[in-house]
Amino acid sequence: MNHSPLPCRPETSHPVSATDHAVQLRSRCRGCIPLDAVWSPWMTELAADSDRVKQLIEFHGSPVNVLSTDPMRSNIKDLQNVASQASVPLQIHFARKANKCAEFVRTGLMESIGFDVASEFEKQQTLDELYRLPQHPFDSPIVCTAAVKPVSLIRSCVLSNIVLVIDNEDELTTLRETLAHLGSTAPKARIAFRLQHCSAKFPDLPSRFGMPANELTLLARSLCDEPRIQVVGIHFHVHRSDEQFSPSFTKALIDDALDVVDRVREIGHAVAWLDIGGGFPVNYLCHQKHWQRFLKEAHTFTESSGRFEANRKLTWNQRPLKDIDPTWQPMNAADWLRAVLTSSLAYEINRRELILKCEPGRALLDGCGLTIAEVLFVKRDQNQNHLIGLMMNSSQCRTTRDDFLVDPIVISASNESAKPTNQTDHAEIEGYFVGGYCTESEYLMQRRFRFPRGISRGDFVLIPNTAAYQMHFAESRAHQMPLAENVFL
Ligand SMILES: Cc1ncc(COP(=O)(O)O)c(C=O)c1O
Repeated sequence: MNHSPLPCRPETSHPVSATDHAVQLRSRCRGCIPLDAVWSPWMTELAADSDRVKQLIEFHGSPVNVLSTDPMRSNIKDLQNVASQASVPLQIHFARKANKCAEFVRTGLMESIGFDVASEFEKQQTLDELYRLPQHPFDSPIVCTAAVKPVSLIRSCVLSNIVLVIDNEDELTTLRETLAHLGSTAPKARIAFRLQHCSAKFPDLPSRFGMPANELTLLARSLCDEPRIQVVGIHFHVHRSDEQFSPSFTKALIDDALDVVDRVREIGHAVAWLDIGGGFPVNYLCHQKHWQRFLKEAHTFTESSGRFEANRKLTWNQRPLKDIDPTWQPMNAADWLRAVLTSSLAYEINRRELILKCEPGRALLDGCGLTIAEVLFVKRDQNQNHLIGLMMNSSQCRTTRDDFLVDPIVISASNESAKPTNQTDHAEIEGYFVGGYCTESEYLMQRRFRFPRGISRGDFVLIPNTAAYQMHFAESRAHQMPLAENVFL
């Protein structure tokens, strides 16, 4: 990892405000339906220093992921402050799956938070960092929520005192067998049960994870005579979309989970905490009106073809974008948590003497990373669309969603040529970003972009706020292309 200091903004004869800077930076690339992205100050500073950008690409190759842990620190503190103002004992567990860099584990440890791990490797890397600390303030600094848990993972969690979040009865059977195999001198296993919310009450929340309350309670009952398995928590995590981000929706989910806590305690288990998972909102966009316009256009496609008929310029090949994250959010994660933790909910948590745990990934990484790629070519396709070929492939900025809905910025190769009066500026063009895989569908972003002063070979494309999921979740070494390097500023 590179730990070079933050780049300085270059000297200019006329000092420009941060707003002017942002406007200037956005002036070279916008979605045909614009989605102006929120840029952290460190990202704007880097973007304004094109020599530094060029050096990063020359040194690390294209694309390169550039990261900063500073926003994570303040994101953690903001959530902790909200909880302490609400007088709720909150333990944050960073969902490691959102980004693979161990640097974020070290940052989390410095801020005294815990971790949610989802694989053997995530667990081991987190443990290695944890063992370097003399002491961690939590009783259970790591919870394991892996969607599939092989015996080896279950065994190592038991031996390392990691809480296993049990998803189903078979998993519990594997745990029982593992304990039997380990013998009577092995430590006790500590588990939480993953709750699946009632489908009648929350019909728009189908989930493959967890167990309905009744099934969960039955399993908890079956453990009453098994002192080697301690039920210490109840857990849920839901994948929210649209109105499910409203604080009242989450409050309702928590209310139901508190009932389950009561039921499992009545059976005789010493449930110490409720874990409400992640999925805290992140706002990626500057303007609500951009998002509203995008949604209006995006939803105006004919059902028969499933393609964008209404606005042919919206996406490549009129591809529909159906599965999308709500990229604009009215509240950031801290404001949202404040709205969730009403005084009545705080009372319900405190009267049960419960610890509230949560597992944000995306929200802690808000503002922590960007991805830079070099333009290798600009050409036209048979329909006269411009194709902008980047030294990058589609796995390097992708999740399971249809598209990442933010506008990148484009800068020229040096500060000199980045000036607005640049002699080499071309006429306005529109087009699509394409990448390195050999398929016809290798479009890096599905949306069509406008380049008011052209875009050329050797320019750089900077994609903001990619640290959570975008840069690592779908990474692949197809074609044996190297993975992007991760550079911390
Ligand atoms: C169990 C669990 N916890 C936490 C998270 C983190 O979610 P987010 O990054 O949206 O906060 C996930 C994400 O998939 C998850 O599956």
